[in-house]
Amino acid sequence: MQGKTPEETKVTMTELVLPTDVNLLKNLKGGRLMHLIDIAAAMAATRHAGKVVATVSVENLTFKHPIRLGEMVELTAKIVYVGKTSMHVNVTVIGENLYTGSRITTNEAKLVFVALDENQRPTEVPPLLVQSEEEKKAYIEAEKKAEKVRKEKLFTKN
Ligand SMILES: CC(C)(COP(=O)(O)OP(=O)(O)OC[C@H]1O[C@@H](n2cnc3c(N)ncnc32)[C@H](O)[C@@H]1OP(=O)(O)O)[C@@H](O)C(=O)NCCC(=O)NCCS
Repeated sequence: MQGKTPEETKVTMTELVLPTDVNLLKNLKGGRLMHLIDIAAAMAATRHAGKVVATVSVENLTFKHPIRLGEMVELTAKIVYVGKTSMHVNVTVIGENLYTGSRITTNEAKLVFVALDENQRPTEVPPLLVQSEEEKKAYIEAEKKAEKVRKEKLFTKN
């Protein structure tokens, strides 16, 4: 199977924060943001796998700053590691004030997807061709987590 680079499958998604997206403080609702993060990450994973994917894990979702009504949300989803059937995706969220141009990284999230075949069972994905030092570092970090999950799964199966 031919490998793909993280850049080839990277997804950038933008949305305007509308009145229906905010809470009483006029900040983007956490649940709405989680939805956008899942969609952006799923598109990157689908691009990589070329198959239907399912979310198996969402972790490390941090909320550092609010995003206000009328601001733009920019989500960037990038594959950082792939196993046999799983794909680890990091999502960075930036809030932009369109009037002033001020941009701030508000959230970061790490998600794992599994590619599924026609019987909705895990199926193999192409290898990930990491290139930059940053990509290699993110790969090693995610690989350690994936190994831990595999060991835990093995332990619970036995
Ligand atoms: C996706 C699903 C079919 C996988 O089934 P499974 O029996 O866990 O499959 P496996 O044990 O073979 O694991 C498949 C891969 O996922 C990884 N994985 C499973 N659970 C994981 C978790 N919690 N975190 C990280 N990776 C995980 C495994 O390590 C394995 O990776 P690898 O092939 O790269 O080594 C099943 O978990 C499922 O249907 N989950 C529900 C998905 C869903 O409804 N999502 C929300 C809507 S999209």
